[in-house]
Amino acid sequence: MKRVTVIGGDGIGPEVVDATMHILKGMDLDLDFVEADMGLVSFKRTGHYLPPETLNILESSKAVLFGAITSPVTSDPCYHSPLLQLRRYFDLYANIRPCFPILPEYKLVDLNIVIVRENTEGMYTGLEREEDGKVILERVVSEKGCRRIVEKAIKVSKVMGFNKITCIHKANVLRKSDGLFRRVFYEVMEGSGLKADDMIVDAAAAALISKPKCFECIVTLNLYGDILSDEAAALTGGLGMAPSANIGDHFGLFEPVHGSAPDIAGKGVANPSATILSACLLLEFVKMMDAASSLQSALVQTLNEGDRTRDLGGTLDTMKFAEKVSERLTRH
Ligand code: NAI
Ligand code: MG
Repeated sequence: MKRVTVIGGDGIGPEVVDATMHILKGMDLDLDFVEADMGLVSFKRTGHYLPPETLNILESSKAVLFGAITSPVTSDPCYHSPLLQLRRYFDLYANIRPCFPILPEYKLVDLNIVIVRENTEGMYTGLEREEDGKVILERVVSEKGCRRIVEKAIKVSKVMGFNKITCIHKANVLRKSDGLFRRVFYEVMEGSGLKADDMIVDAAAAALISKPKCFECIVTLNLYGDILSDEAAALTGGLGMAPSANIGDHFGLFEPVHGSAPDIAGKGVANPSATILSACLLLEFVKMMDAASSLQSALVQTLNEGDRTRDLGGTLDTMKFAEKVSERLTRH
């Protein structure tokens, strides 16, 4: 039986994860769920943001369902985000964000895309140093990194039924680094059976709004993907409904895009939809395709029939909403 680690984390993280687990446990899945700690609450209790026991449990798992963590407010120079540590440790090089409107009344444009973002290189290597009154950042773009992210985008497109991949870059200015990415993109796409085109990132940011239908799968580097995926989430219904997957070759971390929302934590009003959609991505990752699609349909139906949390104009609390989704699943 495949093991899945479950980490609530901080703030609303445990609330949205508990609600999602309520549904998953009712689905009678052939998965072994094990809970673990991470984040600020874990640090206060154990002295570790990412306790060694958690790492042990993760090592014996195939995937993790994760809520959110709160970043400490003090500018402690020794603080390393446990989430970034996990991304590095498990080499979770692909960040995958499907963006489509679940609730048509909240969408701003007609967008139905997936963004596949390189997650380990680019601007986010953390290689910054101070020198002679300047801060120098090393931005890394490697042939290996480009090749594997494009290969992942091809796989994701085929699973999701997309026929075209657009490479988004800034090769007109960053001629060597982004030029390498663009060149590798066309090489890897050769023989994939999918259409390939490319666009400069600033034009792409505008085109997501003015010509949303020209995109299917987007493959891009770390910083561009970070920004464009929040833009796409806002265009399709907001961060509160946006799921994400961080995937390597052997392990996946699935989490809502939103953070720990300290302003509403402990009130039981958080919307668990983004976490439920992240669980759908997790189920696809462990090849439980039917379970993933039933869960997504049950969520969409629940929302469309007007059962909603407060942020979407409803009255249900986090767990009550999850119970409605769970009831719909067992009715089918
Ligand atoms: P946030 O996403 O936690 O909250 C932004 C706003 O959206 C808040 O008003 C919040 O109440 C609302 N919101 C978020 N999720 C919601 C949900 N499921 N249902 C209803 N409303 C929801 O972003 P913020 O406030 O910038 O960050 C709070 C903390 O979360 C910070 O410590 C930040 O570092 C951390 N964070 C953690 C992330 C992670 O663990 N992956 C990602 C983003 C932020
Ligand atoms: Mg972001």
